Amino acid sequence: MTGKIEHASHDEAPVAPPTDFAARANVTEQQYRDMYARSMHDPEGFWGDTARELHWHAPWDRVLDWQSPHAQWFVGGRTNIAYNALDRQVQRGLGDRRAIVWEGENGDIRTYTYAELLEQVKRAANALLNLGVVSGDRVTLYLPMIPEAAIAMLACARIGATHSVVFGGFSVSALADRIQNAQSRVLITADASYRRGTLVPLKGNADAAAAQAPVLERMLVVCRADCDAPMQEGRDTYWHDALAAASSDHDAAPLDSEHPLFVLYTSGSTGKPKGVVHTTGGYMVGTYLTTRTVFDLKEDDLYWCTADVGWITGHSYIVYGPLLNGASVLMYEGAPNHPDWARFWDITERHGVTVLYTAPTAIRSFMRAGDDFPARHDLSSLRLLGSVGEPINPEAWRWYHRVIGGGRCPVVDTWWQTETGSIMLTTLPGAFPAKPGTAGLPMFGVDPAIVTREGDDVPDGEGGLLVIRKPWPSMLRTVYGDDERYVRTYWGEIPGVYFAGDGARRDADGYITVMGRVDDVLNVSGHRLGTSEIESALVGHASVAEAAVVGRPDEVKGEGVVAFVLLQNGHTADPAELRRHVSRVIGALARPDAIYIADALPKTRSGKIMRRFLRQVAAGQEISGDTSTLEDPSVLDRLAATPAQ
Ligand code: WTA
Repeated sequence: MTGKIEHASHDEAPVAPPTDFAARANVTEQQYRDMYARSMHDPEGFWGDTARELHWHAPWDRVLDWQSPHAQWFVGGRTNIAYNALDRQVQRGLGDRRAIVWEGENGDIRTYTYAELLEQVKRAANALLNLGVVSGDRVTLYLPMIPEAAIAMLACARIGATHSVVFGGFSVSALADRIQNAQSRVLITADASYRRGTLVPLKGNADAAAAQAPVLERMLVVCRADCDAPMQEGRDTYWHDALAAASSDHDAAPLDSEHPLFVLYTSGSTGKPKGVVHTTGGYMVGTYLTTRTVFDLKEDDLYWCTADVGWITGHSYIVYGPLLNGASVLMYEGAPNHPDWARFWDITERHGVTVLYTAPTAIRSFMRAGDDFPARHDLSSLRLLGSVGEPINPEAWRWYHRVIGGGRCPVVDTWWQTETGSIMLTTLPGAFPAKPGTAGLPMFGVDPAIVTREGDDVPDGEGGLLVIRKPWPSMLRTVYGDDERYVRTYWGEIPGVYFAGDGARRDADGYITVMGRVDDVLNVSGHRLGTSEIESALVGHASVAEAAVVGRPDEVKGEGVVAFVLLQNGHTADPAELRRHVSRVIGALARPDAIYIADALPKTRSGKIMRRFLRQVAAGQEISGDTSTLEDPSVLDRLAATPAQ
């Protein structure tokens, strides 16, 4: 699959929300304009009023302290995000409302009301305290998409332990690195997880990671499947035993607004993945407001975000944002194509899902599988659709709108990042017409600009770099253990502003189209991967002398991974083994789609690899551009003649 993804152009016809949707919308066009204007000229007033809709154990002294590039929000205030997500809802009389409706891949179904979820979270909080976890400790989670993932996150938040969720698809060594980097003494995992009808042995991976992460002391093991994972005496405890032994009385810790809520590792253009740090108060207020306004949540909605809790979308829009709004959240454990490509539509119909938030990769896979799968189901409960994680091509947007949304559901294309914590650009569903392929307007408090490398504004309609000029409450605060990297990576590339790493352009209506990464980060099926991470994995294999990784357009995944590899003398090429090796080191999501065994890479005289040319080879294009700076331009001809394996 080397198909080129079509890009959004500005002549896409805007799609207006249906009048009845607009009439009932949580935010109208005028309200957006008034709220946005206030968030720009009086940010402290705007955010202070929003924050007061939530519970604070002690009020803040100042809404914002901005010592660029370090921000503190709600300075001196004390609060607890788990208290706001659960205790507050029960006190508001929502105790009997469904908080989580969970469906396992094998058909298991479990429902938790707000009162039941609160009870579980209190027990889990006490279970962590019983293990000796104290406020400020890091706890790593390596879990499937089961309710215990949300319960464990909220339990950490309740006692002030900083959670670090590691996606269940990451390998043993990726997990071990993250445990070690975060210095977590406690890991919460599960015996196994269902994926496409087979069991993924999470506990086995956790055991192997523990052997590589000496800092780890204790493991809590959720029994999801058959409970027969070997348990290490003195180190491992079953989650259900720990919760049964723990009290169900627990008062949420009143935490400083800037208390670190979680670390989430994400790939950058260089080096190892970085631990993005989010704190309590600002993240809470940001996810609370964006969930209510972007997803237009109403009391009787059943909201389903199909992300995994291992990514930021799962943190902000499965767990925190929806529960802070008292929403009923659907959570699904497994693959979208198990037992077939109708699974999502079957779930939507049976449970009556009203709001669906998914990724362009999934939408393109559904398109390719064919309209028959959605046609088998009644999707009339849906009223709003969302997209996140990568640019959505207009064709996929229109298919989603027409086939899944029946032409009546607005589609919100939401641009944001692990670092931004909450949605930054979108077209609010009842307020404005959407333009297929274009995220849209800034959310409250977000001050975007499109600039050159030097920081100068780019005229409307022209491509440039997307930056944010003002701090916002849910912004990352630092990189775990490496504040210098935070300052340099995010605020140092283009002085004085936050640089997102994406290219974008703005049209005459102010709508922003995000075109994709301009750095060495790939977006494969909506998952961020650093080319340098994959390169170092490849070079770690005994047969590889040198490697360069680039992306190529892929019809379904958005981008595919292409590796150019130089072998060590005396070794023969074994592409299948190299793919297995990358899966072992990082995870299957990083496995190269194509491998070129090369005899040289295109380098400048100073030794820098010219990736531009590699991208052309990978995409099957003619080599074009200035080759005069190459040390040996004939390398390109040989590469172009090399078959991909
Ligand atoms: C890309 C995911 C275009 C972008 C929430 C960004 C998007 C990266 C969109 C962040 C969108 C996300 N349109 N591109 N609507 N949403 N991206 O940290 O390149 O996993 O920088 O956060 O995904 O990925 P991350």
